[in-house]
Amino acid sequence: MDSKTEASITIDVPITREDPDTLGKIVKVGLLANPRTLPSKLFYDERGSTLFEQICELPEYYQTRTEHQLLLTWADEIVALSGAEELVELGSGAATKTRVLLDAMAQADQLRYFVPFDVDEAIVRRVSEELVQEYPGLQIHGVAGDFLVHLEHIPEGGKRLVVILGGTIGNLPPIAAEDFLTAVNTEMASGDFFLLGVQLITSQKRLEAAYNDQKGITAKFNKNILRVLRNQLGAQCDSDNFEHVARYNSDSHRIEMWLRSCQDQTLDIPNLDLSIQLKKDEEIRTELSTKYDHPLAEDLLICAGFELVKWYTDPDQLISLALARKP
Ligand code: SAH
Ligand code: AVI
Repeated sequence: MDSKTEASITIDVPITREDPDTLGKIVKVGLLANPRTLPSKLFYDERGSTLFEQICELPEYYQTRTEHQLLLTWADEIVALSGAEELVELGSGAATKTRVLLDAMAQADQLRYFVPFDVDEAIVRRVSEELVQEYPGLQIHGVAGDFLVHLEHIPEGGKRLVVILGGTIGNLPPIAAEDFLTAVNTEMASGDFFLLGVQLITSQKRLEAAYNDQKGITAKFNKNILRVLRNQLGAQCDSDNFEHVARYNSDSHRIEMWLRSCQDQTLDIPNLDLSIQLKKDEEIRTELSTKYDHPLAEDLLICAGFELVKWYTDPDQLISLALARKP
């Protein structure tokens, strides 16, 4: 890296310019649907991001450490194949595993720009401050935005490696996942590389354990969506009146997280002119976490306009990193 280059941080915050009615409409439509749903991006305020970081440390949540190990093994090759000088991470969160890629880019003298993109503004700011200290000369352009809406806020740059890690793609329903990756592809230049971390289909026992941890952190994470609903939309509801449920749906090869009502109760959101009567045991779906196999992931990438370059997986076939390229 050019030692004369000054490290710098720019943060763009399109999330605060989001039409305030939009979120309300999405929440209202979801809560009135059958089954009732809430959008999973609502997990991630500052507390939700912290709870997710704690999930990543849990013994049952094998996903993070497995993907981390894969990155440690393959980052040098990925960076060399991509030739990228700019790393863009969608759903960057705490960017812990990202450091493995940043290290490999720095080692190859290829590290110029990093674009952390996340819906949680606080975590984008925190990560930017940390990384500018850790990587002298790094230019950071953070985006606090919704990656389903604000992709055009990714700045123009050099040769890019765009990454979505952690299996975040699995949190979108199949059609939305394909539309999202197509939009990502549209933002990229021909020859740019894309790295997609996917969680693979494995045993129901292992999967359900990962979302029903002994310490109850995932339950707190799930209930945090109600806290965000109270804070952002003025909902009137008590988290203690709901129970965390996570189960595997083998037909759709996905974990589904739900909040189950412990009693007959009313969920009021006066701001949305909404009052919902929930029966005891009625459930609201808060998250899908789809698991893939090689053909499903490759199909998704091809439908979105990518070509698969390399498929990396761990010996137990739990996680894959799909390295793709925009032709
Ligand atoms: N990439 C990290 C974090 C994964 S958690 C890892 O692998 O550990 C998913 C991340 O995506 C969270 O940080 C969350 O805030 C972010 N996210 C979820 N929905 C989003 C959306 N619609 N737009 C932008 N970021 C989103
Ligand atoms: C971010 N995402 C990929 C996690 C997952 O596994 O679906 C979110 C999560 N939900 C509960 N535990 C972890």
